[in-house]
Amino acid sequence: MPCLVATRSAHKLAEIGKILADVPGLQLTDLEGAAIPESDEERGLERFATFEENAVAKARYFAAKSGIPSLADDSGLEVDALDGRPGVRSRRFAHADGLPPDVQDRLNNERLLELLGGTSPSQRTARYVCVAALAFPDGTAYTFRGVANGLILGCPRGTGGFGYDPLFYDRGIGRTFAELTPEEKNERSHRGEAFRAVARFLRECAAEKETQAR
Ligand code: IMP
Repeated sequence: MPCLVATRSAHKLAEIGKILADVPGLQLTDLEGAAIPESDEERGLERFATFEENAVAKARYFAAKSGIPSLADDSGLEVDALDGRPGVRSRRFAHADGLPPDVQDRLNNERLLELLGGTSPSQRTARYVCVAALAFPDGTAYTFRGVANGLILGCPRGTGGFGYDPLFYDRGIGRTFAELTPEEKNERSHRGEAFRAVARFLRECAAEKETQAR
């Protein structure tokens, strides 16, 4: 089955591609491969209150545009001491739109540390959330949610990953997500959990089709 991975993030694409690599018969295309340039309409898609609504809007938009099933993810960081912020606004937390992604990440991390200044280590609990949406050109959509729990450190550690990873400390393994190998991050991350559920769903669909064809 051909499937579009509807993200412009090279980091997300690499993580998702690895998780879905062993789904039989799945041929992944990215937005560049499908030659879909960024539009104002796409930029306006992230306007909803929940990860689910955002992910479904993105996946449906690209399924309609490409004519093939499309996978999108909407993800972010929820910090308890900030009442769940930045949440669905994680990418734009520092209002640094238009700057290179690594600069946006740095400014977002700085803003997070500033807002958490004075918060004790035990109150710095947080979770990453990822909702993957699979949409078909007729508008049918399915969602899959993954969550990873952690703590926000007082200063960054590690050079891997992206976004808030240098501040996101996983107590189970005793390292930040930026100190994990890509394989370790996929095993433990919100995106890994959500897209492994997508992979199970796609395998089930393929098995059902095969049974029907017999
Ligand atoms: P999205 O592209 O609207 O889904 O925005 C996701 C934003 O949430 C990213 O730009 C990051 O700031 C943050 N985020 C989501 N997943 C991760 C992750 O795995 N590591 C670090 N930051 C993440």
